[in-house]
Amino acid sequence: MPEYTLNINGQSKKVNVDADTPLLWVLRDTLELVGTKFGCGIAQCGACTVHIDGQAMRSCSIPISSVKDDVTTIEGLSPDASHVLQEAWREHDVPQCGYCQSGQIMSAAALLASNSNPSDEDIDDAMRGNICRCGTYNRIKKAIKTAAK
Ligand code: FES
Ligand code: FES
Repeated sequence: MPEYTLNINGQSKKVNVDADTPLLWVLRDTLELVGTKFGCGIAQCGACTVHIDGQAMRSCSIPISSVKDDVTTIEGLSPDASHVLQEAWREHDVPQCGYCQSGQIMSAAALLASNSNPSDEDIDDAMRGNICRCGTYNRIKKAIKTAAK
């Protein structure tokens, strides 16, 4: 199997996997970064969202061979879960089952990195692709607004 070198959460990691292996599989099964979740596997739910070069991307649908830029997962967002969004998520008790939440936070983090004062519409646009079966959308929006302050 070919070897790929990935820059993940500020560290260089070598992995030996097939070229078409989705990044999500490499994160969870090879690198044991299990904070990123598998939901649909077809880029429809957002549970697997990570940052690639600062952009929110669906890791279930990106083959490892096409990953050239820095990858950040929920584990790399802050060393001690103290990112302003993680603090706001706790303040608003956002998660219910929790399954979608790392993807939600990664999408929100990409939004705030490019827009520090998002409108309701900006938030809706950025978060539209992240599905929450528990319906935590209102708390997610409040937490993003708190974090933006
Ligand atoms: S698991 Fe990737 S978008 Fe659903
Ligand atoms: S908190 Fe359960 S799916 Fe979002």
